Amino acid sequence: MKNSPSDIVIGLQYGDEGKARVVDMLAENAGVVARFNGGANAGHTIKHGDIQLALRQVPAAVFYPNAELYIGSGCCVNIEKLEQELLMLEKLIGFTRKRLHISSLASVIQPHHILLDEHFGAQLGTTGNGIGPAYADRAMRINYGQLANIHMGDVLSDSERAFDYMQKSYDAVCSQLGIGNQGCTERIASIRNAARTILAMIEHDPNYLIRRLERNPTTVLFEGAQSVMLDVNKGTVPYVTSSHTVAGAAYVGGDLPATYHRSTIGVAKAIMSRVGHGPFVSEFGGKESEDYCMKRDADGAPTYRKEVEDKYEHNVLLRSDNPFEVGKALRHFSGEYGVGTKRPRRVGALDLVQLRDAIKSNGVDKLILTKMDLLRLFAKTKAEKIPLVTGYKMGSRTIDYAPSSEKDLQSCAPIIEECEAFDDDISQVTTFEALPSGAKKVIQLIEAFTNVKVSGIGTGPERTQYINLEK
Ligand code: IMP
Repeated sequence: MKNSPSDIVIGLQYGDEGKARVVDMLAENAGVVARFNGGANAGHTIKHGDIQLALRQVPAAVFYPNAELYIGSGCCVNIEKLEQELLMLEKLIGFTRKRLHISSLASVIQPHHILLDEHFGAQLGTTGNGIGPAYADRAMRINYGQLANIHMGDVLSDSERAFDYMQKSYDAVCSQLGIGNQGCTERIASIRNAARTILAMIEHDPNYLIRRLERNPTTVLFEGAQSVMLDVNKGTVPYVTSSHTVAGAAYVGGDLPATYHRSTIGVAKAIMSRVGHGPFVSEFGGKESEDYCMKRDADGAPTYRKEVEDKYEHNVLLRSDNPFEVGKALRHFSGEYGVGTKRPRRVGALDLVQLRDAIKSNGVDKLILTKMDLLRLFAKTKAEKIPLVTGYKMGSRTIDYAPSSEKDLQSCAPIIEECEAFDDDISQVTTFEALPSGAKKVIQLIEAFTNVKVSGIGTGPERTQYINLEK
């Protein structure tokens, strides 16, 4: 095992911290890059030169032909979407399918999962990918008197039986919802069609990854999806995803025992964001911003999507006294819109209370701070200061942790410390020494507050826009 150490990359906030970009960077030295949770609800963006890829299910090491890719048993696979993603990768970068291996114990997203998510997901603001209902079926085991959870291995072993179960579950859900069951036959035919090429990637042996490392030792990089504040139990329940997103989950859903573990790398964003409903203590504009970002047109499309917000006077908004307006401008300048859903993301100041908790509870060894260049925007605000949250006020109490109850967390107000702003463009800076003093001070403050070293800083979306502080 010593010859096959594994590292985990996780997001430390509410998702979209730039994990894929970090995985893409670290994948150069990894033999296997593996996903251990979630499914097509993820939107992982990587950019190499002119090519920008939005990955949903395939691990973010696609640009390294020697890296093997693995989708672990903790994941839920949308077979049709996976096929579309592979076709896109073949076309854009000449991807070869034999690099991808899928655990036979990963669950299949079935048509009724998507139907249920469409019906009941809006209250949480889910991505509508059927992820919650799929994990719920795992826990149910039997539902409507028959096998509820279908593994990829079940499709491999007897696909007709698996498709028959899918149809029956769909019929049962339609009758429970009191709706007709049109469309399911076509959907299953489409899954059946896509499965023809996906089947070859499913590993019959559930211990495939262990045996592969025993045969040919190499390093494994686990790529977390969603992020720790969205963990099904440890996140801001109920406004979370339905899988375990914390670091330890890599050794359940990633199909290696914890004895392989070497390090945990946490990724955090200098200006935070969140999509969907739920507590977000440092949000610019609080509840007003949440309601605004979550507003939908009659057809379900986000009302304040990018094209709508692009028309605002962003430099004026940035100088507003109203944090809600400042938040709109920050969203625009930092491009915070969902990769898959196009939703405007809620934005907030860097919350060091939340970050320290996430680092502590996940045993983070190294912290990578992305989008550091965006802190420059605060030099153009009226306060001309960078806000950082260093405590919470809950009623008359001051607390230094994020309480687990959603109600308590919703009631917390941020205690803000203001740091010196900087107006320099740091997107081409390559050393710590060359950073402006305001940026250096923010890094030092984060390190002192969290007790973890910042090992790298993202200064722009390109691979080269990164300052390595591990020296
Ligand atoms: P679900 O994972 O689609 O069930 O959605 C549950 C919650 O997690 C919603 O608030 C989503 O917006 C959020 N979520 C799911 N996937 C991601 C992601 O990749 N990044 C950020 N938020 C996510």
